[in-house]
Amino acid sequence: MIRYTKPTLLDIEAMQEMVAEYVADGTILKREDDEVATNIRSYIVAKEGEKLIGYLALHIHTKDLAEIRSFIVDKDYRNKGIGTVLVHEAKAEAKALGVRRILTLTYENLKGFFHKEAFHEVNKAEIPQQKIWADCIKCIHFPTSCSEFALIYE
Ligand SMILES: CC(C)(COP(=O)(O)OP(=O)(O)OC[C@H]1O[C@@H](n2cnc3c(N)ncnc32)[C@H](O)[C@@H]1OP(=O)(O)O)[C@@H](O)C(=O)NCCC(=O)NCCS
Repeated sequence: MIRYTKPTLLDIEAMQEMVAEYVADGTILKREDDEVATNIRSYIVAKEGEKLIGYLALHIHTKDLAEIRSFIVDKDYRNKGIGTVLVHEAKAEAKALGVRRILTLTYENLKGFFHKEAFHEVNKAEIPQQKIWADCIKCIHFPTSCSEFALIYE
């Protein structure tokens, strides 16, 4: 049975291992252990027994805007709807917190996935919050090879 729950600090090692390959190719931005620990309450994990099989973070930027980031499901568990449930959990958490809009920065191949989840594409240049762009300068694809799209759910 798969559980969707909040992680503890003891999950960080497995979280970092799962994402390492995608950090290396720049698909997902590297977060140091301490940054993950500081923000541990923003994560939602999927577990089968005690095994971590996927997670995302719902990171709050402002009183109006949160962002889904570090979204990943273990390769052996993909295309079974686990990512979809993680997004549903994030939407529910956002609603409970009074977040009006959820942003995600993603790639061409995942646009369809987020469209199904009622996210719509917005022009990246129109995202006003400086805090989001502060992350971009840490990315290996900044500024010339960035191929991310911004999508918003409201
Ligand atoms: C993106 C990611 C987290 C999605 O996780 P997932 O658990 O495979 O997601 P889901 O199974 O909910 O949905 C994936 C697809 O499987 C399909 N699917 C969902 N449930 C299914 C089921 N029970 N049976 C068959 N297919 C199913 C969905 O329709 C979806 O299709 P789509 O791509 O056309 O939208 C995963 O592919 C991943 O970890 N990718 C690598 C990291 C990455 O790119 N992260 C995002 C950075 S922005």
